[in-house]
Amino acid sequence: MAELINIKVNGKNHRVTVDPEMPLLYLLRNNLQLNGPKYGCGIERCGSCMVLLNGKAQPSCVIPGSAAAVYEVTTLEGLSKNNVLDPIQEAFIEEQAAQCGYCTSGMIISAKALLTENKNPTDQEIRQALQRNLCRCGTHTRIISAVQKAAAKMNK
Ligand code: FES
Ligand code: FES
Repeated sequence: MAELINIKVNGKNHRVTVDPEMPLLYLLRNNLQLNGPKYGCGIERCGSCMVLLNGKAQPSCVIPGSAAAVYEVTTLEGLSKNNVLDPIQEAFIEEQAAQCGYCTSGMIISAKALLTENKNPTDQEIRQALQRNLCRCGTHTRIISAVQKAAAKMNK
């Protein structure tokens, strides 16, 4: 049975009527028109649907939208402020870290969670933080360079 929930996404409060079991990914994309998070596998195996829940990167495909109401949710769309890109977004563009771009939103979200906690990650720590994110185009080397560059920008 549909349920009315309050959910905070990208700093804005929303009231939405949803099936309580419906994944957060569908709520974000279909109810709130936030298409940053992507559907890839639907079973927590690819990372394309990553969002921040209270700052931690989590796959939105396996979390019921109703369960996410207790968190502050941030999607890719919430990273830029006043039309200024987040340094991670800038670095991904500068390093040309996307080929098809399907994994990019999830990669940036995982990188954001990492760099919020650890301002100077080692290569190994970057690889570990991105291990739940798959890139089928094989742009991993550029993605890691982009995260390194973003860390350098944020430490200036
Ligand atoms: S769609 Fe969520 S992890 Fe793949
Ligand atoms: S750029 Fe295509 S899946 Fe990563």
